[in-house]
Amino acid sequence: MLSHYFNNLQFNKLAVSIGMFLCVVTTVYAEQDKIPLREPITPIPDAIGLDDQKIILGRRLFHDPMLSGDGTVSCASCHNLNNAGVDGLPIAIGVKGKLGIRNAPTVLNSSLSFRQFWDGRVATLEEQVSSPLLNPVEMATNWSDVLKYLGSDKNYASDFKKIYRETPSKKSVENAIAEFERSLLTPNGDFDRYLKGDSSAIDEQAKRGYYYFKSYGCISCHQGMAVGGNLYEKLGIVKPYYDETTMVTEPDLGRYNLTGEDEHKFEFKVPSLRNVARTAPYLHDGSIASLEQVVAIMAEYQLGRELSSEHIDDIVSFLETLNGDVDEK
Ligand code: HEC
Ligand code: HEC
Repeated sequence: MLSHYFNNLQFNKLAVSIGMFLCVVTTVYAEQDKIPLREPITPIPDAIGLDDQKIILGRRLFHDPMLSGDGTVSCASCHNLNNAGVDGLPIAIGVKGKLGIRNAPTVLNSSLSFRQFWDGRVATLEEQVSSPLLNPVEMATNWSDVLKYLGSDKNYASDFKKIYRETPSKKSVENAIAEFERSLLTPNGDFDRYLKGDSSAIDEQAKRGYYYFKSYGCISCHQGMAVGGNLYEKLGIVKPYYDETTMVTEPDLGRYNLTGEDEHKFEFKVPSLRNVARTAPYLHDGSIASLEQVVAIMAEYQLGRELSSEHIDDIVSFLETLNGDVDEK
């Protein structure tokens, strides 16, 4: 009796083991066919858990030139959302045609970055809002004028009352604009569909490009959901980008301007490469016109390699699959 029971138990165990084995084999097999497992780049999620009313208010503030000192420049002047969130200029231009100091990065997916600005000088999107408003070569205004204008506009005043239960304040303006920016994710681009299992979402050339992107080591700096935006690294890490004959200006010094430490010279936040094919010109100074050129520069100064034009084209073809669209509310 006891031995019968024991045998049965063994048999059951065996059956369970075989079952589990088959289950694991079929899953791994199916997954291999579908999804490249454990990739160092992950898909962008849908923008969820945000407050629609704040987004709508934030969108209006973002596009309102009346926030600027002379009523001519809005956030969207430099971050045009019909143009991937950029102005297409090497260096941004603010009120009265004044030239800024750096290239305008896109605001698409900016909530995925660990810090804001090329040198990461502010931590959050909320904290970032004051900088362009107060910057004399961007929107050239001050909070008291901004709040006076918003408080005297009937629509704004009633929206702030409804949503924040107060007259417009620095805090609520910052929060509405930041909430709008958090809605500017670009999920479901070709590369993300590929990551999620649609192996035909990108073509063979882009697949080769992704392979080179990983095998040459671009991935060691540009990785994660935003394909960047989570590290600081030096421009010219294996070979100096600026030689003695180059004029280095203050904005080129990157994080050094914040810390005064020599080791932070030319150090920048590794930019996100999401939508990068649509955000030319490139680098913090907007000095590089094409994606092919900037890929060659990266290979040379960040990895110490010279790439063939075929491999550069393959990598560019991969980068083009990182384009995606905002789900408009
Ligand atoms: C005159 C052009 C101009 C205007 C107007 C402007 N920006 Fe920018 N924006 C820039 C530039 C240039 C940078 C990068 C500056 C730097 O890193 O030193 C930037 C950076 C940013 C970043 C950081 C992105 C990143 O990847 O680090 C965000 C977010 C942003 N701006 C949002 C806004 C908002 C919100 C407004 C309106 C309140 C605004 N900008 C108005 C030019 C502009
Ligand atoms: C050691 C880290 C590191 C490595 C490796 C690296 N990058 Fe970069 N990448 C950066 C940094 C930092 C910047 C910003 C530099 C600047 O603007 O001055 C950048 C900028 C870029 C840009 C321009 C983005 C923009 O919006 O202007 C592209 C495109 C790019 N990298 C692609 C690549 C490719 C492709 C490779 C591999 C061949 C690569 N990177 C390897 C750190 C790295």
